[in-house]
Amino acid sequence: MEIVIVPDAVAGGSLIATAIADLLIAKPDALLGVATGSTPTPIYQALAARVADGSVDASRARICQLDEYVGLPAGHPESYRSVVLREVVEPLGLTEASFLGPDGNAPDIAAAAAEYDRALAEAGGVDLQLLGIGTDGHIGFNEPCSSLASRTRIKTLTRQTREDNARFFDSLDEVPHHVLTQGIGTILEARHLVLLATGEAKAEAVALAVEGPLSAMVPASALQLHPHATVVVDEAAASGLKLADYFRDTYAAKPVWQGL
Ligand code: F6R
Repeated sequence: MEIVIVPDAVAGGSLIATAIADLLIAKPDALLGVATGSTPTPIYQALAARVADGSVDASRARICQLDEYVGLPAGHPESYRSVVLREVVEPLGLTEASFLGPDGNAPDIAAAAAEYDRALAEAGGVDLQLLGIGTDGHIGFNEPCSSLASRTRIKTLTRQTREDNARFFDSLDEVPHHVLTQGIGTILEARHLVLLATGEAKAEAVALAVEGPLSAMVPASALQLHPHATVVVDEAAASGLKLADYFRDTYAAKPVWQGL
């Protein structure tokens, strides 16, 4: 696992946008898995700016969702489908035709989950999966004690995650209890995992995920199993890392041609 410590969220967004741009040169129709929440916004802004100024061609890119609330009415502005269309698909100049997501309103949620795993495989698999991390160590919405081999399925959010996400809703009561999320096993099938974490509130979860033991109690520690996982953290989110100096030295000495 590579740990890159950047000065701030904007620098992290720019670095990851460069990795996506490089991927799109190598594979113009790459399938890009996107996370929602506040953290990845600087990535999407940096990428959209490069598409707008013509330095990145994302016209053949395909976008897929990591997770979705269960039961929010179709078109709800905080459904992750709406968020991804608004914050990623449209700013990159793409349409829904380039987009894959699970149906959080399906009458048969278990079937919708299995169908989404199938759709990802039929699309050739995810080339680069962006991830955030919850304050409780979740990735996607795989809460603590999620199976490290899990597939896309329904999960129940912890109270902590519902409280963290209440800022997107008018009240805590409106935050759904249930979600459809790519499983940890599903996430680990992506060819490259890129997790961005910013801010002091993520420092403990980052330290446990990167330097702690592999454990279902810290779902993000599953990145330790992946042959190509990159964790980009700002100084605040890196503040709990014992090996921070080693990670800084390693990245400083890395040949530029290697990219992320
Ligand atoms: C959302 C997702 C979650 C978030 C995490 C952090 O699609 O996958 O794992 O990445 O809850 O959220 P923020 O970035 O809002 O702190």
